[in-house]
Amino acid sequence: MSPGIEVKNLVKIYTAPGYRVQALRGVSFTVHEGEIVSVMGPSGSGKTTLLNIIGGIDKPTAGSVIVGGENITYYTEPQLREYRLRRVGYIFQFFNLIPTLTALENTMVPMIIAGRGRVEARERAEKLLDAVGLGDKKHRLPEHLSGGERQRLAIAIALANDPEIILADEPTGELDLANAEKIMEILVELAHSRGKTVIVSTHDPRVARMTDRIIMLRDGAIEGIYEPENIGGAGAMGEVAAERTLVEYIRGRIERVKAEMETLTKMLRENKITPDEYVKRYLVLKYTLRAWREELSRLGAGVEALE
Ligand SMILES: Nc1ncnc2c1ncn2[C@@H]1O[C@H](COP(=O)(O)OP(=O)(O)O)[C@@H](O)[C@H]1O
Ligand SMILES: [Mg+2]
Repeated sequence: MSPGIEVKNLVKIYTAPGYRVQALRGVSFTVHEGEIVSVMGPSGSGKTTLLNIIGGIDKPTAGSVIVGGENITYYTEPQLREYRLRRVGYIFQFFNLIPTLTALENTMVPMIIAGRGRVEARERAEKLLDAVGLGDKKHRLPEHLSGGERQRLAIAIALANDPEIILADEPTGELDLANAEKIMEILVELAHSRGKTVIVSTHDPRVARMTDRIIMLRDGAIEGIYEPENIGGAGAMGEVAAERTLVEYIRGRIERVKAEMETLTKMLRENKITPDEYVKRYLVLKYTLRAWREELSRLGAGVEALE
């Protein structure tokens, strides 16, 4: 397998007067052609920032993204435009459909922009809509489609110019499990049968488990990269075991944050840090703790049981 995307030491710092957030702190990983990988983490962990940089929408503060042997972070704006138009299919967290155009017309837009003729664009758009199961709804406006259908339309649009890379930012965030599974089946198929390099961000372990590897992001850093088989994914161990393993993992994280809070309090008592510093670091830990607890409750695990 050849590497589809190599991400090396990616750093992103957002600054404004009186504001500085390090959204990514040296993130590195490789995704191969024909592989689908999920980036999993709580809200604010850096998923969208990461996908935007890989998709050429945003620039990193440091580090590189290598696609087909080329470092796209050195691309000029016109090169980036070509990259976004032809090589990347981006499925956004909030549907970015043109409300006044039908499903068919929405799917034709990227092809027209890329210079294809209308007849050819229309033919291909029809094929793509058939492939995502929207053949009979191609003349509908987005508002007359269900959430699941809109997201399938977003996939058809992302595939318009036959990109080698598919990036999907929480594509199942607004969907129920049945619809989420349908979306994931399409994305898995694109990787495994059509050789696309696919990255999906999610906060849902059930979604992450449908991918080949799970990259756990927390606070802008990779906590670990897991193979679903090894943590009891869709295959061997079955659903319940997988969920239990993830619950245990998250519980471990929570215990570690709690221990860090205790250490911090101890440092304050021993005058090793200033009260200012204490409050600042304590608040970060408190936020992290809350985020992990939210993950737990999403999994249906009792948070009370932890106390
Ligand atoms: N355009 C921006 N300007 C300033 N801060 C941002 C911007 N985008 C994201 N951030 C901050 O960067 C961090 C990571 O955000 P994001 O990548 O959106 O995470 P996620 O998608 O996992 O929720 C958060 O602290 C967020 O507030
Ligand atoms: Mg996001």
